[in-house]
Amino acid sequence: MALETEQQPTAIRFPDPAVDGYHQCWYAVAMSDEVPSGRVLGKEFLDGRIVVWRGDDGVARVHSAYCRHMGADLALGEVDGCVLRCEFHHWEYGADGRCAKIPVQDHIPERARLFSFPTQERFGLIWAFNGEAPLYDLPAFPTTATEDIVSRVFQIEPLPVPPYVILSNTHDFQHVAIMHGATMEHEPQHFDVQEHTIEFENEVHDPTLGTTQQHFKIFGTNTLTLANQTGPMLLLSLFTATPINNAATTGYTVTGTLAAAPDPQRIIDHGEHFARTIMEDDNPVLMTMRFRPDTPIAADRALMRWFRRAAEYPAAHPSRELIT
Ligand code: FES
Ligand SMILES: [Fe+2]
Repeated sequence: MALETEQQPTAIRFPDPAVDGYHQCWYAVAMSDEVPSGRVLGKEFLDGRIVVWRGDDGVARVHSAYCRHMGADLALGEVDGCVLRCEFHHWEYGADGRCAKIPVQDHIPERARLFSFPTQERFGLIWAFNGEAPLYDLPAFPTTATEDIVSRVFQIEPLPVPPYVILSNTHDFQHVAIMHGATMEHEPQHFDVQEHTIEFENEVHDPTLGTTQQHFKIFGTNTLTLANQTGPMLLLSLFTATPINNAATTGYTVTGTLAAAPDPQRIIDHGEHFARTIMEDDNPVLMTMRFRPDTPIAADRALMRWFRRAAEYPAAHPSRELIT
């Protein structure tokens, strides 16, 4: 009986970033308040480097970091109005990433353009999509309108595993009790699996939150929105993971509640404590594991379904030539 339900691990082949690229997801690349109007900031992203900048129109933009002229790092440049000027020979790039001005000639070569990442801003984070165009909408809480939410964000320490390994926690129901001390009557039974999202509900008895109704929605392979309803208190937790430096993953946690709730900052304090407690439980494992799902068992059914999805999820790297 047990043999029939054991999963065969050999079929799973995860994308190799050097060959297949990275999952095509919305990735948080900076916190909004790191990039005020008129500023440019260099950031590591995927296996390369990007610039995140904001013109005086207030709109955040994300481009490949290296100038198409001689490869200077545009993070050394300056923002002037709505253009980004390279430090080295003063080529200027517009909001679309195309070079708009070369001081010593009128002709602008066609190839003088940066990789322009689709960019949006939400929950105090600047998000870039790994692709020419987004494959799905920017993450949001399915249960609560974004404009009704007040939230706070913090960045976590880099971890040496890909985002889909960190997000696999959402489908690892055995570790919820063992690592986090939370119990549930039974595992979630219904998973609403769409092309780019997975949604399900659960009831847990959590040591920090108490008895809580949880609504999970996972976007791509790197972002979880989790709405926790504990009695009258709605606590919103978002976790998102971003590949950096080729083999590491940084992440951001957003904690929020209804702006109209009594004392929302107290709820957010409580929610940040919840998020940090979870990460303190998991991080020693994530920091040291050699991830390989060698011997899955019947109880890992949901977890293995997640890993098969991660193996099949679209991967690409259209910015590779320009960010590395
Ligand atoms: S390297 Fe940027 S203008 Fe020359
Ligand atoms: Fe966990």
